[in-house]
Amino acid sequence: MKYLVTGGAGFIGSTLVNRVSKNAEIVIVDDLSMGDLKNIEGLAERQIQFVEGSVTDTDLMKRVLSNNQFDYIFHFAAVASVADSVARPVETHQVNFESVLNLLELCRNYQNDLKRLVFASSAAVYGDEPTLPKAEESVIRPLTPYAVDKFAAERYALNYATLYGVPTSAVRFFNVYGPNQNPASPYSGVLSILTDRYQKRLKGEEASFTLFGDGSQTRDFVFIEDVVDALLLVAESAESLANVYNVGTGDAISLNDVIKVYQDFLKTDLPIHHEAVRSGDIPASYANIAKLKSLGYAPKYTILSGIQAYLEATIQK
Ligand code: NAD
Ligand code: UD1
Repeated sequence: MKYLVTGGAGFIGSTLVNRVSKNAEIVIVDDLSMGDLKNIEGLAERQIQFVEGSVTDTDLMKRVLSNNQFDYIFHFAAVASVADSVARPVETHQVNFESVLNLLELCRNYQNDLKRLVFASSAAVYGDEPTLPKAEESVIRPLTPYAVDKFAAERYALNYATLYGVPTSAVRFFNVYGPNQNPASPYSGVLSILTDRYQKRLKGEEASFTLFGDGSQTRDFVFIEDVVDALLLVAESAESLANVYNVGTGDAISLNDVIKVYQDFLKTDLPIHHEAVRSGDIPASYANIAKLKSLGYAPKYTILSGIQAYLEATIQK
């Protein structure tokens, strides 16, 4: 099997690559803006070709797609931060939307044996319409450039299946967390930032956490290993062709309660500073995962066992 994984040095992409690369040939395209080669296991020994470059480089992408025949394509490359898209709407649109349309067109022209292209969309497409949990047919109200681009790209991906026969599926990730999520940017996923700050604190360094709002906002945090199970299931199922799936746990937890879980596990207090709610921030979010379950999905991690596995893999005591 041959896979193209864009964004394959990033958090979700590298975890997928590490799961499949022992028995497959992989091409990764990543500009390393957030990803890290260290995330990829066996880069020297396994059949992994790493192409450092941007998915917005149309010549580069044409070379990759016209010189290889892939069985599976996973398109993860994106500016994954909602807040960053609010700060830089034009630049993030190139990556989060234009690159997807270009990739679909290249698949239409060059990928005759493709089994499936899976596009990484987001729960952000649901916006702040208050009905919960969010099902795939819920009202869509994208509030940020990130969410608008994800929804438009997702629709293009699915319509390329019905209009042109390019085999596509899309997934709407809720809040994914786990080892190798990069905490370096102020816009990084909240649990990667929280874990990093606790890690510093445990090493005796100065560290604090900035909580935007009062901490009552809720999210459906889903552990990375369950996410990779879901991705492979969607990619390999016949029923998922031209369909979109929520990927979450089906449970919500507030940031205040997540911080309590960290405190209980690590027996350490972290100073918390409060700042105003971020613009475009969603107050509450969790998934209805019945559609994904109909493919055979069963999440293995609860928020407690997921945070425990994350901390055991990450925190050096
Ligand atoms: P990540 O930032 O760790 O991974 C994205 C990867 O894409 C990084 O390695 C980065 O270097 C690369 N990249 C960025 N711009 C690029 C460009 N122009 N060309 C080539 N590579 C580029 O983020 P992630 O959490 O692994 O997210 C993967 C995908 O899932 C993204 O599309 C993101 O929008 C989506 N998503 C993530 C979450 C989450 O909770 N992590 C939730 C919903 C959707
Ligand atoms: C996240 C993803 C986004 C995805 C969406 C789907 C990241 C970086 N973003 O957005 O790609 O589409 O889920 O649901 O993974 N917060 C703090 N302090 C911090 C950082 C964040 O209080 O230092 C708060 C935020 O204001 C927000 C919550 O934590 O209320 C979650 O923020 P974040 O991890 O950035 O995720 P989302 O905005 O939900």
